[in-house]
Amino acid sequence: MNEMLGLYPQWYVPGIGTAWVMGIIGTIHVLASHTSVGAAWLFALLATKSVHENKPEIMVYLKKYGMFLLVFSYIIGSITGPGIWYSVTVASPRGISGLIHNFVWLWASEWVFFFVEVIGVYAMVYLIGKIDNKTYLKLAWSFAVASWATMILIVPILSFMMWPGNDHWFQTGSTFDAAFNLNYFAHLGVRTAFMFAVAGAVGGIIASTLKDRETRIEITRFLSKMGLAGLVLMSFMFMWYTLTLPDNARLIMDTQMMPRYGKVLLVLLTTTALYFMFTAWKPLQLRQSMAGAMTLAIALFGLWPEERSRESMRKPYVAGQYIYSNQFFSRDVPGKGVKSDMPLIKANGVLATDYFVPADLHTITPENQLRAGSLLTHVMCANCHSLEPNGALRPLPALFGYSKEPKMIKAYLDGALYHGMVPYMPKMPLPEDEREAMAVYIASLPGGSKKPASVAINQTEIEAKGVN
Ligand code: HEC
Repeated sequence: MNEMLGLYPQWYVPGIGTAWVMGIIGTIHVLASHTSVGAAWLFALLATKSVHENKPEIMVYLKKYGMFLLVFSYIIGSITGPGIWYSVTVASPRGISGLIHNFVWLWASEWVFFFVEVIGVYAMVYLIGKIDNKTYLKLAWSFAVASWATMILIVPILSFMMWPGNDHWFQTGSTFDAAFNLNYFAHLGVRTAFMFAVAGAVGGIIASTLKDRETRIEITRFLSKMGLAGLVLMSFMFMWYTLTLPDNARLIMDTQMMPRYGKVLLVLLTTTALYFMFTAWKPLQLRQSMAGAMTLAIALFGLWPEERSRESMRKPYVAGQYIYSNQFFSRDVPGKGVKSDMPLIKANGVLATDYFVPADLHTITPENQLRAGSLLTHVMCANCHSLEPNGALRPLPALFGYSKEPKMIKAYLDGALYHGMVPYMPKMPLPEDEREAMAVYIASLPGGSKKPASVAINQTEIEAKGVN
């Protein structure tokens, strides 16, 4: 039998693309999970304060807040966690397989700590006042440490998706080489700082409902200080983080995200800082709706663009700088026994080497050309581009200026994509007839005719940046 590609069937989501499906689930999950980790620290700190300063009223707050966490963070977190698994497994099967082959034990350890964390939150809520203070504090700190450990163990995987951080890993395939690099520590710093900031905001949702005036003032001020400290730390960590990114990520950040995304982040950071200053100054003015709105703003204008831009900045890869987002292997990874797919598709094309291509499409004929083009475009491009003219994910028709000219489209496939000249797109050395079929299909996609082709503009921008 001929050599075949290790591709899986394609999952296509019209309009928003699979990337957005994962992004939406991921954002909700990050909000829930970071809130719980931050809250675990808040628990430990406030419980210590309550015991040492002999202020049992604080425990009333902790009980209420713990219940709120259980219902929101833990339930939402436990639903969206498996949701991420389901969606990534079908959207990016080779990506997730690559991660599992690197990090299976790390993931297993993370689950152990997560288990401790879940027991911890129940213990925190239900054991208040039922066990002696010393034991309660021990539990509270174990809960905080176990919670943070889940973050310490998951961030290596997220960092590795951006890049292994050094060339060494490609040779050794070692988990430690993959995990603990410069990008990891900066990334962990950003998320740790963020968890304090977000816990400060979420904590206000409950603090604002406290009956006792003094406790309400004290806790709201505590939350404000914690939130502010988180924000300051996060700003520094974020700057460090940007210094630890690979070249392709920095290029995408500079050319496609920076002015706008930077402004959104700056406005959000300033608003959040002002919010915390206000709640520190006038704690009794804090309303539940304000804290809720602040949390929502952090999710919509902080987390969502952050998740999306991390996805964009990894381009053309989904993980490890060797698995392209369209699931092809870009290079050999001797440490993992992975072989580049590029020579095979260059020699035999995709139609004849992908198991899931229907038999009548193995060879292109005038009758099946459009269907073959459609299949190839879904496999090669749809992970990163919507095929609908108004799709949310970099819609392909618009990027080709709604061109109805197969020739012009093919020129792009023949040049930039064939030779891998666009730093944020995979190299696609497909045979002549497959490129032709894709061009015919893309030209057949419906769409308006407003904008001129943006192809030329973007190419000049890349050249101006001196990449490739
Ligand atoms: C790994 C993800 C990825 C894949 C796969 C991918 N692209 Fe792209 N593509 C991008 C990104 C990112 C951009 C930049 C988008 C922007 O400027 O908004 C882009 C931009 C483009 C552009 C605009 C011109 C340019 O050079 O920026 C065209 C045309 C294009 N892609 C065509 C394709 C075609 C055709 C395929 C499939 C054969 C494809 N892309 C596959 C990520 C991808």
